[in-house]
Amino acid sequence: MFQIVGKRKLNDSMTLMVVEAPFIAKKAKPGQFIILRVDEHGERIPLTIADYDRKTGTITIIYQVVGKTTMKLDQLQEGDALLDFVGPLGKPSELEGYHRAAVIGGGAGCAIAWPQAKALHQMGTKVDMIAGFRNKDIIILEDEMRAACDNLYLMTDDGSNGHKGFVTSALEENINNGAGYDLVVAIGPLVMMRAVVGVTKPKNIKTIVSMNPIMIDGTGMCGGCRLTVGGKTKFACVDGPDFDGFEVDFDETIRRSHTYYDEERRMAREEKC
Ligand code: FES
Repeated sequence: MFQIVGKRKLNDSMTLMVVEAPFIAKKAKPGQFIILRVDEHGERIPLTIADYDRKTGTITIIYQVVGKTTMKLDQLQEGDALLDFVGPLGKPSELEGYHRAAVIGGGAGCAIAWPQAKALHQMGTKVDMIAGFRNKDIIILEDEMRAACDNLYLMTDDGSNGHKGFVTSALEENINNGAGYDLVVAIGPLVMMRAVVGVTKPKNIKTIVSMNPIMIDGTGMCGGCRLTVGGKTKFACVDGPDFDGFEVDFDETIRRSHTYYDEERRMAREEKC
């Protein structure tokens, strides 16, 4: 069993949880994920490792309550334990050797972008972090992101906090002002990552995207995370989650992600009742 040693609400639907898992903490690297199971009746879900502490032997995860399993997970408190907690899984992010990076997080994607920014910053890369949210009420990890970069650009769609606009507006502005990025990392909704690549590709700025949002079971078996990268079939959980953004076929991935949209909405409504 894996004991929960910390829990903090980040906003109405997102929670940070710290779990005792010394063997995973010993090996974890940014970009990797774990698979957890709450109890013997639960399904397995993959969650990105948001942070790890090798000294205390803990792993931090951040989840959004969106379905039955995350609802069940959210009912647990400090002192409770998870039945399964497996990892680290997936390929670590390749972040060495860059001078100036923009790390972009969209909404819940900031939970994954934050450790990437932190890792780059610790390696000596100058990091601008651009974090986008719909409005001020759902902003998460502001202090943590600020501490993990040189400049934080907080964007809200409605201008209720930070700057009004999308993350791509800030990215374009910084590039046009001579930021000199040699790396852009984008993590968030598929349409956001596609839009970021739309800005960086014409300027040939290397762009890494994280395809965590399309993972389902994280084991390479369900096929839910299948995508085309550079004309070849890949699986986000086995071959990624990070990929070269220029190579990802976003249009196909976005089309596939809508396949069960109506059913998923219906299930989410039923689970809330
Ligand atoms: Fe199921 Fe990758 S998440 S195959």
